[in-house]
Amino acid sequence: MAEVIIVRNQDEAGKIYAQCVTDLIVRKPDCVLGLATGSSPLAAYEALARDVNERHIDVSQVRGFALDEYAGLDPRHPQSYRSTITRTVVEPLGLDPEKIHVPNGDLDSIQEAGAAYDEAIARAGGVDIQILGIGTDGHIGFNEPGSSLASGTRIKTLTEQTRIDNARFFDDDISKVPSHCITQGIGTILKARHLVLLAFGAGKAEAVAETVEGGISSFCPASALQLHPHATVIVDEAAASRL
Ligand code: GLP
Repeated sequence: MAEVIIVRNQDEAGKIYAQCVTDLIVRKPDCVLGLATGSSPLAAYEALARDVNERHIDVSQVRGFALDEYAGLDPRHPQSYRSTITRTVVEPLGLDPEKIHVPNGDLDSIQEAGAAYDEAIARAGGVDIQILGIGTDGHIGFNEPGSSLASGTRIKTLTEQTRIDNARFFDDDISKVPSHCITQGIGTILKARHLVLLAFGAGKAEAVAETVEGGISSFCPASALQLHPHATVIVDEAAASRL
C-alpha cells in the first residue's frame, strides 16, 4: 500500500521531494536519481535546485537516469526528453551532464537500447529515488494501459490520446508527434528503492484512485506501485478527490 500525502499545492509537494533528495545526496553523494519529464515534477525540480544552490550541496557525483524518450527524434530537438531533462534538471541543479542518462531513441539501435539501458541502471547500483508523473489513463513513463507489469525498458507505440495530449509541445500538430518511444518498463521502475509519484488537478483524480485503491492491473500501469515496499503518492486536494 502506497503512502498518500495530500498537499495544498505543487510547491508544498516540491518541498517534500526536495527534502528527500537533499537528505539522500548528503548521505550518499553519488546517489542515483530517477528523472521524469512532464509538468508534474517541475515544481519539485525547482524546489530541489533552490535547496541545492542555497545550501551549496555538492552534486558533482550525482547520477541520473530518465524514464523515457521519443523514438526517432533528434536528441537536440527542444522537445526531446534529453533536451527537457537538461533544461529542467541538469542545468538548474548544476549536475554533471556526463552522469545523466536518457534512453537512446535512435531508430538504428532502439531494439538493443532497452536491455542496454537496464544493464546500465543495474551497473550503477539501481535508482535510489524515482520521481513519477502519471497520465490521465494511469500510464507511468510511457507504459500505456496494457503494458506488462514485469516489463523492462523497450520500444512502445504511443496511444492516440497521448499523442493528442503531447501535440501542444509540437506546434499543436499531431503529425509532428513521434509515434513511438523508448521507455523504462514497469518492472524497471519497480526496482527503484523509493518511488515518489506526483499528481495535481482534477484530471488526475480517477487515475490516482485507480492507482491507490483499484486492483493491481496492467490497465492502470501505475497500480503496480501497490507492489512496491516504499511508494509515496503526493497529491493535491483535486487529485485526491476520488479517494
Ligand atoms: C508523458 C510522460 C510521463 C508523464 C505524463 C504526464 O506521457 N511520458 O512521464 O507522467 O506525460 O504529464 P504531466 O505531468 O504533464 O501531466
